[in-house]
Amino acid sequence: MKLITNIYQLLVTGEYDKPLCGKEMGAMPYIENAYLVIDEDCIYEYGIMDDLHPIAVDEVIDATGQIVLPMWCDSHTHLVFATTREDEFVDRIKGLSYQEIAAKGGGILNSARKLQAMSEDELYKDALERLSQCIKTGTGAIEIKTGYGLTVASELKMLRVIKRLSTAVDIPVKATLLAAHAIPERHKQNRAAYIDEIVNEMIPAFTKESLVDFIDIFCETGYFTVAEMDTIVNAGKAHGLKPKVHVNQFTSIGGIQKAIELEALTVDHLEELTEKDIDELKTSNTIPVALPGCSFFLNIPYTPARKIIDSGLSLAVATDYNPGSSPSSSMNFIVSQACINLKMTPAEAIVAATINGAFAMDVAKETGSITKGKKANLIITKPLPSYNAIPYHFGQHQIDEVIVNGEVL
Ligand code: NIG
Ligand code: FE
Repeated sequence: MKLITNIYQLLVTGEYDKPLCGKEMGAMPYIENAYLVIDEDCIYEYGIMDDLHPIAVDEVIDATGQIVLPMWCDSHTHLVFATTREDEFVDRIKGLSYQEIAAKGGGILNSARKLQAMSEDELYKDALERLSQCIKTGTGAIEIKTGYGLTVASELKMLRVIKRLSTAVDIPVKATLLAAHAIPERHKQNRAAYIDEIVNEMIPAFTKESLVDFIDIFCETGYFTVAEMDTIVNAGKAHGLKPKVHVNQFTSIGGIQKAIELEALTVDHLEELTEKDIDELKTSNTIPVALPGCSFFLNIPYTPARKIIDSGLSLAVATDYNPGSSPSSSMNFIVSQACINLKMTPAEAIVAATINGAFAMDVAKETGSITKGKKANLIITKPLPSYNAIPYHFGQHQIDEVIVNGEVL
C-alpha cells in the first residue's frame, strides 16, 4: 500500500456513470487538503486529511502544495505511423492547403505509401517510443486508429502493432479501425470496391482476431460520404464495433446526423458545426470530441466548445496525434489549448481531458477519475498555486511524478 498525504488539491473525485455535461464540467468535483491510498494497482480510498486514520502502508509520498489528478485520457490518436511529414508542413507555410497537398498525392496517401513499405517490427519500435513518451507526460489511457494501411495486409499490420503496444504498456489502449481514411490510389476509379474490401474482408477478419474495439470513418468532402459511413459503420456494428467517427472537420455534410442515428459513441473534430448539428446532438448520447491541436496546426477554425458546453452537452478533448494535422502527443498542451482557443475554463478542460475522455473511449470503468477501485493512474504536479496553473503554463507540463498502475514511473 502507498499513501499520498497533504495533497493540496485532488481533482476529478467521485463516481461517474456518464460524462459530465454543460455546467457540471465547470463544477469539476475536487477536494482540498486530501490523502489518497493506493492498494497494488488501484485507488483504495481517499478523503480529507482530517479524516485520515492510522493505516499500515509501505510508502508515504508527501504531496504538500502539489495537485493530484487522474492521468489524461487521450481518446483520439493516430499514433502508429511511418514517418513525419515536415515537407508538407513547409508547403502549408508557403500557402498550400491541407486539401491541396492531399490532391497532389501528399497527406494520408503519402503516409500510407510509407507505412505499407515498413515492417511490423519497425513500426512497433517507433510507436512504442512515442507511446512511452505519452505516458511520461501524463497520458494514462489512449485510443489508436489504423488508417495509414489502406490495404487488408497493412491495416492488419497496424492493428497487430496496436495489440502489441497494448500488452507492452500498463495503460488501457483501445484500437479503432479507420480503413475508411482515404480512398487508396488503386480504387480511385471504383470506390465501391474499396468499401466492399472494408466491409467484406477487413471487418470480418480483424474482428475475428479480436483486434478492434471501434469503427471509424473520415466523413468529409473529398474523402467519404454520409452514405458510405452508413454502410461501413453498420458493417462494424454487426461485428460488435462501436462507432467513433471523424466528422465536420472542413465541411458540414450531414455526418453528425448520421452518426447520431448510428448511435456513435463519439463525433470527433466538429470544427464546422451548425446550430442544427448542436440541436441534434442534444437529442443523443453521442459525445462531441474537440481536437484543438489540429486547428492550431492546420490554422483552421476551432471547434465551438463554448456553444457545445453552454448547450448543456458534454465535451471531450484529445490530441489527434498524427503526422499530418497534429504532430504532438501532449495532452498538457491540449488542455492549455482548450482554455486559450476553445475558451474553456481550466476545470472544464481538465474534465474534458480526463473523465469525459475516458467515456469517449469506453474506459471510464477503469480510469479517468479519482474513484475507489479505479486504476491508480495519477499525475502529481509540481507545487502550484491552484489547478488553474496547469493549463496556464502552456507548452511546459507541470508534472512532478506520474503513477501508473500504482507504481511511480
Ligand atoms: O484526424 N482527418 C483525418 N485524419 C487525421 C489526419 C490524417 C493525416 O493527415 O495524416 C485527422 O486530422
Ligand atoms: Fe483524427
